[in-house]
Amino acid sequence: MSSITVTPCKGPGAEIGNVDISQPISDEDFAVIRQAFADHGLIFLRDQTITPEQHIEFAERWGDINVNRFFTPVDGYPQIAEVRKEPDQATNIGGGWHTDHSYDAEPAMGSILVARELPPKGGDTMFADMAAAYEALDDETKQLLDGLEAVHSSKHIFGGQSAYKEGSDVNERLHNADAADALDDVVHPVIITHPLSGKKILYVNAAFTIGMKGMSQEDSAALLMRLYMHAQQDQFVTRFEWKPGSIAFWDNRATWHYALNDYQGERRVMHRITLEGCALAA
Ligand code: SIN
Repeated sequence: MSSITVTPCKGPGAEIGNVDISQPISDEDFAVIRQAFADHGLIFLRDQTITPEQHIEFAERWGDINVNRFFTPVDGYPQIAEVRKEPDQATNIGGGWHTDHSYDAEPAMGSILVARELPPKGGDTMFADMAAAYEALDDETKQLLDGLEAVHSSKHIFGGQSAYKEGSDVNERLHNADAADALDDVVHPVIITHPLSGKKILYVNAAFTIGMKGMSQEDSAALLMRLYMHAQQDQFVTRFEWKPGSIAFWDNRATWHYALNDYQGERRVMHRITLEGCALAA
């Protein structure tokens, strides 16, 4: 029997214990971790000491790695995106509620983020549970959203017209603006059925969703804002405090995340591997 422990957090997510992912993981142990990931959409591990190679090995156990086309990779490891903020930078990467890759036709399944260098204080990441947010909507709103689709884009974030461009120090960490400009916007259902858990999920996010399909800009903006205000309420949110050896693995289809930028003058370096996903359906 597996000795892996799964301890639900107070908010969304669960902490996985009794595991050392620098060592080979038995099929039995892996099945427990996989089930926890499907159930919670967000898992945390503590006190891990892993090399970039072991990070890649662990990720490959879950599926194919998505080599990020916008982020600067870690030297020598194109599979690992570097999420770095230097002491002299004002803006950070991921400093607002978002879900990665919703601008792709087949959005990435999830990301495994490893703490490499942490500020003495601050730099937590918040996660919001989009299944719980959907469940808590009133019936009228659920009916309104049923069958609706939303348009998602990367152009305004990673493209040549990016808001990050002018006077932003984050921009130097992101590259390949031409690739973002070349990407077509995509459409996903506003309510998806999660491919692993089968739960209904509210699948729009403030960073990459640019509007509701077939709705006026005004109505679309008002509806999206209402959904964003609803989903970021405390009861749907876990705030994760990073420590040396911490790892967070989130499902992009089930959660939003938000990297807090409250450590001015300090350095924070994280390594992120993103896993390929699939097309999403209502
Ligand atoms: C991200 O948005 O992927 C970065 C999260 C973080 O740095 O905590």
